[in-house]
Amino acid sequence: MLFSPYPKTRREELFDREVELGELESSVERGERLVLLLGLRRLGKSSLLNVALNELPNPSIKIDVRKTYSEFSSVNRYVIGKMLLSGMSGKKRLVEEARAFLERVRGVSVSGFRVEITSRDFSITELLEALNDYGEEAGRVVIAFDEAQYLRFGGATRYDGILAYAVDNLPNLTFILTGSEVGLLFDFLKPDDPNAPLFGRYHHDIALERFEPGLSAEFLRRGFEEVGVEVREREIEDAVEKLDGIPGWLALYGYTRVTRKLRHGEAIEEVLREAKSIADGELSRLFAYSPRYRVILKAVALGYSRWKDIKDYVTLKLGYVNDSNFSALLENLVKSGYVEKREGRYTIPDPVLERVFREL
Ligand SMILES: Nc1ncnc2c1ncn2[C@@H]1O[C@H](COP(=O)(O)OP(=O)(O)OP(=O)(O)O)[C@@H](O)[C@H]1O
Ligand SMILES: [Mg+2]
Repeated sequence: MLFSPYPKTRREELFDREVELGELESSVERGERLVLLLGLRRLGKSSLLNVALNELPNPSIKIDVRKTYSEFSSVNRYVIGKMLLSGMSGKKRLVEEARAFLERVRGVSVSGFRVEITSRDFSITELLEALNDYGEEAGRVVIAFDEAQYLRFGGATRYDGILAYAVDNLPNLTFILTGSEVGLLFDFLKPDDPNAPLFGRYHHDIALERFEPGLSAEFLRRGFEEVGVEVREREIEDAVEKLDGIPGWLALYGYTRVTRKLRHGEAIEEVLREAKSIADGELSRLFAYSPRYRVILKAVALGYSRWKDIKDYVTLKLGYVNDSNFSALLENLVKSGYVEKREGRYTIPDPVLERVFREL
């Protein structure tokens, strides 16, 4: 179902995106070693990644790094090692074919179709080397880190260094990294920093954009048609105007209309309610860190777009804040994608979140 509110896994469920899917798949086929799939939240990165991994003949392992981090509060090498191995466990063909290679890795044991870490001298690099050797026989192995910006919390494990080593020395691996917090992902990878391990390494960037209005309308029409629900053209236009071309919101709108038989206005309200609860969850960590984030988001959502105006608003509400602290907070919001900066003006790029933030 086009409106299903979960990341898609098959091409038939994916609306449009043929170009990006083709680009992603052909970059793997060409043997590129580092591919970045970038875009704001809810544009469909995970869906695109899932579909590509399903379609490509290559053995693949995917880790949701954001989920891993929130579950373990860490992404140290044992945690990521465990996730890599459990991403393999159960994939019969992969474990069977790679068994001989995996058994050679210190600290890893294979029993049946389960692969586990058994001792502390386990090394991620050795595991990647084993997968690279396996890839030489089986064809390139794809390792996908969904929401890879969370790899920056590796502590003593420096994933940028590990990635740089792999990109240089392990030709049978392709890493696909997705990131909705694009600025934070680049802060972690530092591809332009001469002192950073990944400096100068080639990476193929694929940027997901929102749907154009015509395409958004087509997405809604197609989705309603698929389930035989008739909807007025005027309502489609209004939904496109309010939800913009963000597939996650469009799908949620369609889903609530169809499954809960809501009218247009009610469904829009429901999307806003849902957006509020999603935003509360996503932002709670940030707000716990500094209550100023909340007020900055509100100011930008209310239309204050210049640095000085936003700062004045925050000062009015919360009292004195020094310039560099304020700049750092604002910059973090830009890096995490909640705020966009263009020609010196700050805005909220997602109109649904903009409405939610006005009420903060
Ligand atoms: N091209 C598409 N066709 C159909 N549904 C889509 C498409 N893109 C996204 N969706 C739907 O939108 C929602 C968000 O998609 P997805 O989770 O893949 O996005 P994301 O970019 O990974 O988001 P996040 O940054 O929150 O992880 C899902 O419900 C998904 O089913
Ligand atoms: Mg995702």
